[in-house]
Amino acid sequence: MTLPNHPEKIVRDAKVLAQQELATNVYFLVVESPEIARRAKAGQFVQLRILSGAFTLRRPVGVAAVDEKKGSIAFIYRVVGKGTKALAQLMPGEMVNVLGPLGHGFAMAYKHPLIVGGGMGLSPLLYYAAAMQGKADVLMGGKTAEELFWSGLFDDLCGHCFLTTDDGSRGTKGFTTTVLPEILERGDYDVVVTCGPEVMMRGVAKIAREHGIPCEVSLEKRMACGLGACLSCSIDTTDGQRKKVCKDGPVFPAEEVFA
Ligand SMILES: Cc1cc2nc3c(=O)[nH]c(=O)nc-3n(C[C@H](O)[C@H](O)[C@H](O)COP(=O)(O)OP(=O)(O)OC[C@H]3O[C@@H](n4cnc5c(N)ncnc54)[C@H](O)[C@@H]3O)c2cc1C
Ligand code: FES
Repeated sequence: MTLPNHPEKIVRDAKVLAQQELATNVYFLVVESPEIARRAKAGQFVQLRILSGAFTLRRPVGVAAVDEKKGSIAFIYRVVGKGTKALAQLMPGEMVNVLGPLGHGFAMAYKHPLIVGGGMGLSPLLYYAAAMQGKADVLMGGKTAEELFWSGLFDDLCGHCFLTTDDGSRGTKGFTTTVLPEILERGDYDVVVTCGPEVMMRGVAKIAREHGIPCEVSLEKRMACGLGACLSCSIDTTDGQRKKVCKDGPVFPAEEVFA
């Protein structure tokens, strides 16, 4: 079914095809949703509603992978509260309600992007890396080596995979922003695409600006409707306008949201 006022958006119960724990409290969920698989662009998200229990509010989750042939979409999410805990308990064959695809994704016209991600921000970037078909490199950061389980997912999708950890247990010791200037100086990147903790994205956007490279950031805000109707995800942009992360984003040009 499409939504009456949003004919391009699908709302439907979708069968869980697979659910797997990738790392402590981080899950990979695959659901059957052929219409959304056909429409979803890298950087877009869906709102999931658990059908059992008293869950009225949906939970926003970025699209991590799409398989058009199988008609499936996948998500990678961390259990942080009761909604994601209930999501993690879904078994193959059970149903979850999916609304999407929502928001605006990343620009796809660039030839050599550098992806910079941290934490669960790497999830929508995984779909972007796949959609760029080997043209992108990735720089990812985590607190410890365990948090960099992501590198195994990006390895086949990207040319180079640069790694940092806060404690030096894998890759270069430090933050993504520690090594980013050198990577930008050595490479010929035409865009930096970033998602992760806001402090990281602000640092990444500043360094990209200093190197004269456009930067796209994917923001995360608490959401209710996900459709631009309730104002709960409003932000102030640098030119003084109010924008909604769910409808105008979640991907924005960095200069529009970070001064
Ligand atoms: C556009 C978008 C895409 C997202 N994509 C992913 C994804 O791919 N993978 C993933 O793991 N998570 C993602 N999130 C975050 C995810 O939606 C929240 O973690 C989830 O809604 C928490 O639900 P809960 O019921 O488990 O937690 P709650 O019980 O509602 O909250 C538990 C804790 O999580 C915090 N929290 C809840 N929602 C958010 C939020 N939106 N931003 C920051 N903190 C929050 C709360 O403040 C609280 O501390 C995304 C959020 C947005 C807005
Ligand atoms: S979540 Fe309702 S306007 Fe964005």
